[in-house]
Amino acid sequence: MKQMIINGNHELTGNILIGGAKNSAVALIPASILANGKSIIKQVPNISDRDALIDILNILNCEVKLNADELEIDTVNLKNTLIDEAHSKKLRASYYFMGALLGKEKYVEIFIPGGCNIGARPIDIHIDGFKALGAEVKIEGNKYILKADKLIGTDIYLRFQSVGATINLMFASVLAEGKTVIHNAAKEAEIENIADYLISMGANIEGAGTDEITIYGVNKLEGGKITVLPDRIEAGTYIILGALVGKNMCIKNIIPKHIEALTNKLKDMGSNIKIAKDYVMISKVDNLKPTNIKTLVYPGFPTDIGQPMSVLLTQANGTSLFEETIWENRMGHVPSLNKMGANIKVKGMTSMTIGPSKLHGEEVVATDLRGGAALVLAGLTAEGTTIINDVEHILRGYENIDEKLRNVGAKIEIKEI
Ligand code: EPU
Repeated sequence: MKQMIINGNHELTGNILIGGAKNSAVALIPASILANGKSIIKQVPNISDRDALIDILNILNCEVKLNADELEIDTVNLKNTLIDEAHSKKLRASYYFMGALLGKEKYVEIFIPGGCNIGARPIDIHIDGFKALGAEVKIEGNKYILKADKLIGTDIYLRFQSVGATINLMFASVLAEGKTVIHNAAKEAEIENIADYLISMGANIEGAGTDEITIYGVNKLEGGKITVLPDRIEAGTYIILGALVGKNMCIKNIIPKHIEALTNKLKDMGSNIKIAKDYVMISKVDNLKPTNIKTLVYPGFPTDIGQPMSVLLTQANGTSLFEETIWENRMGHVPSLNKMGANIKVKGMTSMTIGPSKLHGEEVVATDLRGGAALVLAGLTAEGTTIINDVEHILRGYENIDEKLRNVGAKIEIKEI
């Protein structure tokens, strides 16, 4: 088990370089098996979810070479179509092998995926889409068996703009016969990045990034090439840190448009923020104004930045209201923040924060990825020492977090206990 120790309340200054987006990389890696041949993915973040997906590619008999942040995946010897329960359960994104293996091999056996405990996380929208394309789906205990003689393009209406289902259905339809239209598709920036990768393999996809994606099936895909887009959630997390304890903190390698919902909110709160072409410079101000936030699908305020943002609300002068609309259980970090001195009241998926609160160091537990990141921000803001247990949750999605933070002056270390 890993523990993070933070000595907080120091001004942070300097540059933080953002890596490739976790939520894109975890779909791009499984997408590689749709190709016949060698694919290259650049700017792959150094996170434990990456390693869990590489393990699955090895099980499928793919050849994988990792050189710094570049991944080369050769699928010519792909032969297995069963992913055991231990590997399926390691992360949420294992379910992208459903669409990818179904698309390529027309057969997959896989178990219920794992991931953060932030809600029930059903996969009915994915399954309904696979069935609409002609797949037969059997569920035996925790195991899903998906098979098809052939997949045939069709119109698929998603009852919710699910990111995962949109991606999985692109995977299942790129090699299907004929035309598939995904209606009410998710529009998250990552989806365009993933479609670009498939297009580089020879797929015929139009409309990714809008709520209607059209896929014309092709017979075969060749090896592809892509650079993972910068992680808007990692960027958002460090921008919020800059607003908490930064002095000219510069967050580099970002696409400002992808984080506009956050930067607009920070401007409304009176932050000292400068937005340039590919970086944001931010410093702490006194007298931050309170605000109200409601998470929404892209381009709304991202649910994944809600928990880090909750720390900033503790420093605003007055009452802020927060409403989560995507996940039922995204308040797991709040008891820890309150233990550290925050004044946050939770009711279902909403919370009320009265600030400003002086935070102090405590021993706390990361309950999930973004909740864990929120505790890191709180620890860096708090007076004294904060100990965060179960740091593995954080390392699933934030690459080299301790090193990146030490580079801007944070007193932070991770140790094995
Ligand atoms: N939903 C269903 N049925 C489905 C699929 C989704 O009811 O078949 C519901 C979910 O329960 C949830 C909502 O629809 O209430 C949104 O789910 P979505 O499918 O969009 O989320 P996801 O694909 O499972 C991805 C990210 C999440 C991020 C969400 C929303 C990955 C691996 N995960 O999840 O990221 O919160 O989109 O943007 O890409 C994180 O990074 O911390 C994280 C949880």
